[in-house]
Amino acid sequence: MAGAPLVLVMLVVAVGVAAAERGGKLQQGFYEQSCPRAEQIVKDYVEQQIPREPSVAATLIRTHFHDCFVRGCDASVLLNATTGGGEAEKDAAPNLTLRGFDFLDRVKALVEQECPGVVSCADILALASRDAVGIIGGPFWRVPTGRRDGRVSIKQEALDQLPAPTMNFTDLLASFRAKGLGVADLVWLSGAHTIGISHCNFFSERLYNFTGHGGPGDADPSLDAEYAASLRRTNCTTPTDNTTIVEMDPGSFLTFDLSYYHGLLQHQGLFQSDAALITDAAARADVESVAKGPPEVFFQVFARSMMRMGMIEVKTGGDGEIRRHCAVVNN
Ligand SMILES: *[C@@H]1O[C@H](CO)[C@@H](O)[C@H](O)[C@H]1NC(C)=O
Ligand SMILES: *[C@@H]1O[C@H](CO)[C@@H](O)[C@H](O)[C@H]1NC(C)=O
Ligand SMILES: *[C@@H]1O[C@H](CO)[C@@H](O)[C@H](O)[C@H]1NC(C)=O
Ligand SMILES: *[C@@H]1O[C@H](CO)[C@@H](O)[C@H](O)[C@H]1NC(C)=O
Ligand SMILES: *[C@@H]1O[C@H](CO)[C@@H](O)[C@H](O)[C@H]1NC(C)=O
Ligand SMILES: *[C@@H]1O[C@H](CO)[C@@H](O)[C@H](O)[C@H]1NC(C)=O
Repeated sequence: MAGAPLVLVMLVVAVGVAAAERGGKLQQGFYEQSCPRAEQIVKDYVEQQIPREPSVAATLIRTHFHDCFVRGCDASVLLNATTGGGEAEKDAAPNLTLRGFDFLDRVKALVEQECPGVVSCADILALASRDAVGIIGGPFWRVPTGRRDGRVSIKQEALDQLPAPTMNFTDLLASFRAKGLGVADLVWLSGAHTIGISHCNFFSERLYNFTGHGGPGDADPSLDAEYAASLRRTNCTTPTDNTTIVEMDPGSFLTFDLSYYHGLLQHQGLFQSDAALITDAAARADVESVAKGPPEVFFQVFARSMMRMGMIEVKTGGDGEIRRHCAVVNN
């Protein structure tokens, strides 16, 4: 028994390195010559701020994920709607995601002070997400850099391409496959729900109105009945409550641990998209295997999938630009 996880860990490390090399156009330490202190500035700021606002770690991971799933990891999620133009990806994002923007603006300003116009917002988002997860005791992964920022952000694309919390397994996997990711990435990246919070309105039909008949008897049968009842009693007393905080991984929502996967196996995944992970044989096998621990195995596979995610459709070389301010394209 004791040997098995170790073999898995080594295998995963090998695969992770291979994936990084395939990432090709990005490179480790891209700013080593052009802005040698860039990565340290991001890290220092994260180290100083995240202990004060640890829930921002989850926000940053979610923002990075949203960014990569729409037009690649090009910081398009950070752009404001243009005056006179259509709405941006940001306008499709729930408020919980929006909270990270201010944080990123502050990091970007510090980096700009050191080296104006050199370091992309897309790289800052990737680095800050990694560093924030590290600060709260989560895994470390390598972040090769050299991403450039996009100039386009369209609300409808976010609505079409981001996996929704109400999706079943088939639709979730389709949205991951569309980005070159697979079943394992879906299972490991969902593990980010070990940190973070939500609001009732994202899953309240599972508590109140699953078939459309309504009433407390109309709950999602795939959700543990006692857990559903306790949510209805405590933090989801009304289906439309969009302000009360609900911990995605109750009791340890600031800790990067295995309890999200334990919760899934007890039918306590909060979203339908969480519950969906145990409806597919291959995904369920992944959940069961990682849930056994040790946590280091989860850390390794999560890290590998984050590296893969961070390479989705990146813009490099002469593509895109280095934005001066993350919320607006350069003139
Ligand atoms: C982007 O939009 C936000 C919210 O509307 C606003 O507070 C901020 O000033 C805008 N940023 C820029 C650079 O225009
Ligand atoms: C969400 O953000 C909008 C615009 O910033 C604000 O008007 C609204 O009150 C916020 N809603 C919640 C639930 O925080
Ligand atoms: C998944 O949901 C879609 C609609 O969103 C539906 O068309 C499809 O039949 C569902 N698949 C399964 C296996 O339930
Ligand atoms: C329950 O769902 C049905 C169908 O989606 C909808 O028409 C109805 O308004 C919902 N009831 C409540 C109380 O939200
Ligand atoms: C939150 O709910 C209130 C009342 O139902 C609504 O006016 C508001 O637009 C909602 N905010 C968001 C961000 O959904
Ligand atoms: C319920 O909401 C309160 C207040 O927003 C929050 O402090 C608490 O952590 C929440 N509990 C759960 C289990 O989500």
